[in-house]
Amino acid sequence: MAEEQRKPHAIMICVPYQGHINPFVNLALKLASKGFTITFVHLEFVHHKLSKAHHSNNGEVDFFREARESGLDIRYTTINDGFSMEFDRDVHMVEYWESMMHDFPARIDEFVGKYIQSDQNLVHFLVADTVYSWCATIAKKYNLVNVSFWTEPALVFSLIYHSDLLMEKGHLPYKDNIEEEINYVPGVESISTRDFMPYLSEAEFGSIVQRALSLAFEEVKKADFILHNTVHELESDILSALNKIQPNYAIGPINFSATNTVSKSLCYESDCTHWLDSKSPGSVLYVSFGSIVQTSMQVIEEIAYGLLLSEVNFIWVVRAGIVSSGDTNVLPDGFEDEIKDKGLILPWCNQIAVLSNPAIGGFLTHCGWNSTIESMWCGVPMICYPITYDQPTNRKLIVDDWKIGISLCDGKSVDRTKVAEKIKSFMSGTTSKSLKHEATKVKKTLQNALEIDGSSERNFDKFVNDLKEKIHATTASE
Ligand code: UDX
Repeated sequence: MAEEQRKPHAIMICVPYQGHINPFVNLALKLASKGFTITFVHLEFVHHKLSKAHHSNNGEVDFFREARESGLDIRYTTINDGFSMEFDRDVHMVEYWESMMHDFPARIDEFVGKYIQSDQNLVHFLVADTVYSWCATIAKKYNLVNVSFWTEPALVFSLIYHSDLLMEKGHLPYKDNIEEEINYVPGVESISTRDFMPYLSEAEFGSIVQRALSLAFEEVKKADFILHNTVHELESDILSALNKIQPNYAIGPINFSATNTVSKSLCYESDCTHWLDSKSPGSVLYVSFGSIVQTSMQVIEEIAYGLLLSEVNFIWVVRAGIVSSGDTNVLPDGFEDEIKDKGLILPWCNQIAVLSNPAIGGFLTHCGWNSTIESMWCGVPMICYPITYDQPTNRKLIVDDWKIGISLCDGKSVDRTKVAEKIKSFMSGTTSKSLKHEATKVKKTLQNALEIDGSSERNFDKFVNDLKEKIHATTASE
């Protein structure tokens, strides 16, 4: 058997959202750098979007070509999700995810079956996003070792993982109008239901997100290995408790790869380096609500005037589709003229490059987990305006546990005067000093985790060894 064929080979399939693509691609690069062969699979429409964002209109791009030329064994292919390129998967999210839950598994089955049958492709393991609901079934059918990758904090994982326990105790679905303190989830000292993910509430129980995750977590309980994009030191009790049940490995942050050769951004990135370089250190507030969540015109207006009244420099990513009404002109009339050189409005940027710029002093964020971890990596304190999904739970970690951020407001209602006051004291008041101090400490924790003997590096190496042993045992039993 040729040497290439003996290298353990993975099929990696990622969920089609920016917040999942970024860590997934970096995980592929890291696995390949440890000597694994990777076949990376994007959905066709993701491939199409990436091609457009990176100006390759013929759609024939192999995004991993450069990585391969640098010596990594990463192959690249695509799979159809059953919808046309034009179908708006965000607008029709419910229809889309119903199909992803019920129709897509058959497509994956066919794809994996054919891929394995073509005799040059000896595949040993599957690495799929935890939110997919078919992973254990497919892995079992094709005798593949099953690796599940969770791209949100371990706290969020643990709450869904222990749904049965929460239900038994009558706390799930949680009641919207009563706050209850939960202190029996293994490894979670205490959490108020106010900080739970909204899809676990009475109002959203049975929603597509809750149902998809519930199905997915039935599958993850059968995974051989679970990887988390977090750091052991930040969530040690939760991870230790999970480890008593299944092998879990905190390997984060995985958002920052040494090689920047693979295109990941689904939108064209505007360059604002020149503008940022003209500002003094720590003077600019970066504002962004990630890649998928939406808000209202009213919230945008209050934030816009709040920024203006605060007189702080800012960069604001106002992406297409940010408001649920579908309006395209979302900023107040004349706003862009009024801000002059104090502010810069962009449709999309390279967020890590922006956060790394010394001019950035804070991040007004929706608390998506990638944004959180990228901000922590750069030592940038946060003002939190969580909207949905894991974001309210992430806010608890940022504000209450790690003390590297403050909340923009209580609840969702936003008022321009209060926004201005918050931003002013956040950027220059005494709170800003203690936040910066804590943010610098957390930054060090993240950096240490990725040192050669750091916790995430050690966990990754342990995972690689455990995986190889498992592959060996699985192939020997064939
Ligand atoms: C979604 C959920 O909303 C989030 O809560 C969950 O943790 C992951 O899935 P999203 O809302 O897009 O993600 O937020 P986030 O996790 O922060 O991911 C956004 C990604 O887009 C980040 O990696 C960020 O660097 C990138 N980004 C964002 C850009 O590259 N440019 C931008 O202009 C804005």
